[in-house]
Amino acid sequence: MNYVRMPIEIESPEQLGYDRIRYNLTESSLTDARLHELWPSLGLDQALRELVLCYSDHRGHPDLRALIAQQSQAGQPSAATALSADDVLVTSGAALALFIVSTTLLERGDHLIVVRPNYATNIETPRAVGADISYLDLRFEDGWQLSVERLRQLLRPNTRLVSLTTPHNPTGTLLPLADLRRVLSLLEGHGAYLLVDETYREMAFAALPPVAATLSPRAISVSSMSKTFGLPGIRIGWLLCRDAALHERFLAAKEQIVITNSVVDEAIALRYLQHKAQHLPRIQQHIQQHLSIVHAWLAEPTTAELIECVEPQGGVVCFPRLRDPLRHDIAVDAFYRILNERYQTYVGPGHWFEQERRYMRIGFGWPSSDDLKTGLQNVTRALVDARGTALRHRS
Ligand SMILES: Cc1ncc(COP(=O)(O)O)c(C=O)c1O
Repeated sequence: MNYVRMPIEIESPEQLGYDRIRYNLTESSLTDARLHELWPSLGLDQALRELVLCYSDHRGHPDLRALIAQQSQAGQPSAATALSADDVLVTSGAALALFIVSTTLLERGDHLIVVRPNYATNIETPRAVGADISYLDLRFEDGWQLSVERLRQLLRPNTRLVSLTTPHNPTGTLLPLADLRRVLSLLEGHGAYLLVDETYREMAFAALPPVAATLSPRAISVSSMSKTFGLPGIRIGWLLCRDAALHERFLAAKEQIVITNSVVDEAIALRYLQHKAQHLPRIQQHIQQHLSIVHAWLAEPTTAELIECVEPQGGVVCFPRLRDPLRHDIAVDAFYRILNERYQTYVGPGHWFEQERRYMRIGFGWPSSDDLKTGLQNVTRALVDARGTALRHRS
């Protein structure tokens, strides 16, 4: 494995130091929860006090797996197959699930089709393995929509894995159910597996998208506690897969990497999911409220003159771009420097996602409403301040 650190991790707010960032629009999750807020409502005193600090079930706590399987049924279309606890492997965040899938299914030279832009790990781990990668590039001009026809053209007899993310990071767009079905039917007679990173599924703005693993035994779904619930610190995610033999190989990988999850993390996740219905309305309201702050910002004349954005359909990120840096005489590097240094505001620059730096990911779920408003204003202010820097740069 040829590991290379990714810019999104090197430049992440936790590595930079949260105290150095006043307005943090880099995050892709809801505001991080505090343990004391959850303690009484989840009954954690009782749940944690008596906990035996042993190795847990290697697949994950049986009650947690059963609950994840049961909750995966919500919003499923007809013809979906119900999942059971045996289809669930609990992992240390979605990150470990993605790592397990890539390293189990891919060896050096194996062919993979992966959507780009994407959550960086979905590209970087296959690269570290030495896979032969075809990129399914999404474009702003197409509303970041995936072309199933293009995917069909990229498919080869030896393709091992197709890797999609929906709701999408960094754009917040959704793969329509009809397209997901078309992708699955392409793969049915083929032999390749489909990985669907569904980490933002429960943050879709309209109908709850399906869990791909309920639609086909060739589909592997990945999700986690991190984003919707603002619990990245407990490092609990999972993968769902109905192919028992493949599941056994995923389990072997997990056992060789971490053996089990932390029993403390699993206990908190179990309690949280048991009380999920209490939390979801508040979370959905928060997302809608913050989305309308983003809409208002994008509609402001100065912002609208400088920035354009494809409407997100789920999650708490969007991926706007500076309309035309040269026409506005803005050097993109100067913009980021001013944004970070003068306004102490951070966004996710395009290079985190292998895109031009005039694209930026804006995370609108994590900051407080006031900080979001000010942070967004600061983006516009920094763009205005950076006017006059591009041509000077070139001469
Ligand atoms: C699409 C996607 N998948 C997976 C992850 C990893 O999340 P986790 O904290 O569950 O490991 C992220 C984190 O940003 C993500 O955006």
